Amino acid sequence: MRVENVDVYYGDFRAVTEVNLEFGLHEITALIGPSGCGKSTLLRSLNRMNDLIDGARVDGEILFHGENIYSKGVDPIEVRRRIGMVFQKPNPFPKSIYDNIAYGPRVTGMKVESMDDLVEESLTRAALWDEVKDKLKQSAIGLSGGQQQRLCIARAISVRPDVILMDEPCASLDPIATMRIEDLMQELREQYTIVIVTHNMQQAARVADRTAFFTAQVSEGTGARTGVLVEYGTTTQIFEDPNDQRTEDYISGRFG
Ligand SMILES: Nc1ncnc2c1ncn2[C@@H]1O[C@H](COP(=O)(O)OP(=O)(O)OP(=O)(O)O)[C@@H](O)[C@H]1O
Ligand SMILES: [Mg+2]
Repeated sequence: MRVENVDVYYGDFRAVTEVNLEFGLHEITALIGPSGCGKSTLLRSLNRMNDLIDGARVDGEILFHGENIYSKGVDPIEVRRRIGMVFQKPNPFPKSIYDNIAYGPRVTGMKVESMDDLVEESLTRAALWDEVKDKLKQSAIGLSGGQQQRLCIARAISVRPDVILMDEPCASLDPIATMRIEDLMQELREQYTIVIVTHNMQQAARVADRTAFFTAQVSEGTGARTGVLVEYGTTTQIFEDPNDQRTEDYISGRFG
């Protein structure tokens, strides 16, 4: 997946500008940077989630298997099936555990030989099956936060995406649940390409193959803040040998 010259606007406000990035197949890429620098905005543009926000507009190209996902004729629903998303706050549907997983395959009309098998497979991959296999008919709302987040990951993979986008997926979880999600990401990356936004730099250092550092640049004339990509590289390079002073200041905690 490749981001080419992307700007994202909300009305007249340019939230992110001139981003060029490439996400490696079966790699985990972390997007890091201070609050308001446009990480979530960019992440949402990767599967056309911004389409759902009034006034949001994406310029430039996001190439997925070589095709611009914003081209005319591309179905945004199909884009979101192939590029799934997991949010900061676990957001299970107020339905049974089983129906949470079966929902996506049903509404997208996926051909499924056995829904029971697909539900089991998705929950197993998300490392949740053993904890819920005896209560699939119970409401997902009754699960713990960490379980709910794994359920949301299972829901995202039930429609067999290629890419999973995660926006601070551990922000509302305790350290043990966080560790489980991080372990899970390591397993999932064998089959999926993962892009994760995180404020936790240790987390980026632990899980990501590559890291992209963003910051908000303030225009001298207008004082407008725009998110820019400062630097992108292997996680080791970004954390141990950054090229840009702004990256170094941020990762060493000198920022703001
Ligand atoms: N729906 C929206 N409508 C208008 N402006 C928005 C919208 N969402 C975000 N913005 C603006 O775009 C800029 C980038 O916001 P974004 O949420 O992408 O930042 P972020 O890097 O994810 O921050 P955080 O780390 O706090 O989550 C901010 O100035 C924000 O106010
Ligand atoms: Mg955000």
